[in-house]
Amino acid sequence: MTDRISQIASHLNWPKGMLAGQVAIITGSGQGIGAEAARLFANEGAKVVVSDIDSAKAKAVADSITSAGGQAIAVPGDMLDDAYLKTLVKSAADFSGNGKIHIIVNNAGYTWDGVIHKMTDKQWDAIVALHCTAPFKLVREAAPYFRVRDGEPRAILNVSSSSGVHGNAGQANYALAKAGVTGLTKTIAKEWGPAFGVRANTIAFGHIATRLTQAKEMGVFVTGPGGEKIAIGIPEAQKKAAGPALYTDIPLRRPGTATEAASAMLAMCSPMFSYVSGQTLMVGGGRNM
Ligand SMILES: NC(=O)c1ccc[n+]([C@@H]2O[C@H](COP(=O)([O-])OP(=O)(O)OC[C@H]3O[C@@H](n4cnc5c(N)ncnc54)[C@H](O)[C@@H]3O)[C@@H](O)[C@H]2O)c1
Repeated sequence: MTDRISQIASHLNWPKGMLAGQVAIITGSGQGIGAEAARLFANEGAKVVVSDIDSAKAKAVADSITSAGGQAIAVPGDMLDDAYLKTLVKSAADFSGNGKIHIIVNNAGYTWDGVIHKMTDKQWDAIVALHCTAPFKLVREAAPYFRVRDGEPRAILNVSSSSGVHGNAGQANYALAKAGVTGLTKTIAKEWGPAFGVRANTIAFGHIATRLTQAKEMGVFVTGPGGEKIAIGIPEAQKKAAGPALYTDIPLRRPGTATEAASAMLAMCSPMFSYVSGQTLMVGGGRNM
């Protein structure tokens, strides 16, 4: 029967996939986990809004999706710019063709580490602004598209980290901010679940292989507030110090790939998770059990 329906659907050119007919904003989707999520969501029929501060990378992701037959637009900008958040939401609603937005994945982020006694106010404020305040402002801006009673699925997924759940030396700012999103997530679930059926969840990654976790010596920088250049990555010395113990705290004994991380995001935003809300899913190969 299902085969017959999909045959008819393909004949009629109906949208197919777990997210068919849904519009998804994915922040920080110019590369890494977000870019993989953009591709996977588009493969499942979503119209994806690729949001990133790096406009060339955002455009490349959107182009690769459309050239593969999917639907995506790039809406580049800085999550710390209030005007951009308005543009992002409006562009998503316009892209939908029917003024609807179904999914927001708050994924944009980076780390700016320092031990507590050396951490500057600038480091603290930048990380809290990007990982907590910006997701809140985006969700608030998109409220009119989520507080609706049309019977269609709505999901918000906020990205956290094992640092946010367990703390991490050298990451007081990031640990606080990534813990903060779980409170935001649960509040959305409680405010918008009852009348509107909106699901809100948190996904907390462990070690995922992206530029955020590659060797710091590779010299990759992100541009922080005020144009400040911030080095990202994990110092090789830290890995060397672990020696043969590297990854022994991970039952699966390896970092995850961006595709594996994004697959868990897709599952959480899909109908497979239709009765799951307010939860934090650890995606870390079993670390921190
Ligand atoms: N990689 C990991 O091991 C890991 C672990 C835990 C949590 N995370 C979280 O997962 C998310 C994705 O990280 P990733 O590893 O894919 O990193 P990444 O550096 O590969 O991608 C992050 C993207 O966010 C974008 N971005 C950064 N600041 C922005 C801003 N102000 N406005 C708009 N876009 C901005 C970057 O340009 C980049 O494209 C982040 O929130 C990160 O904190 C990652």
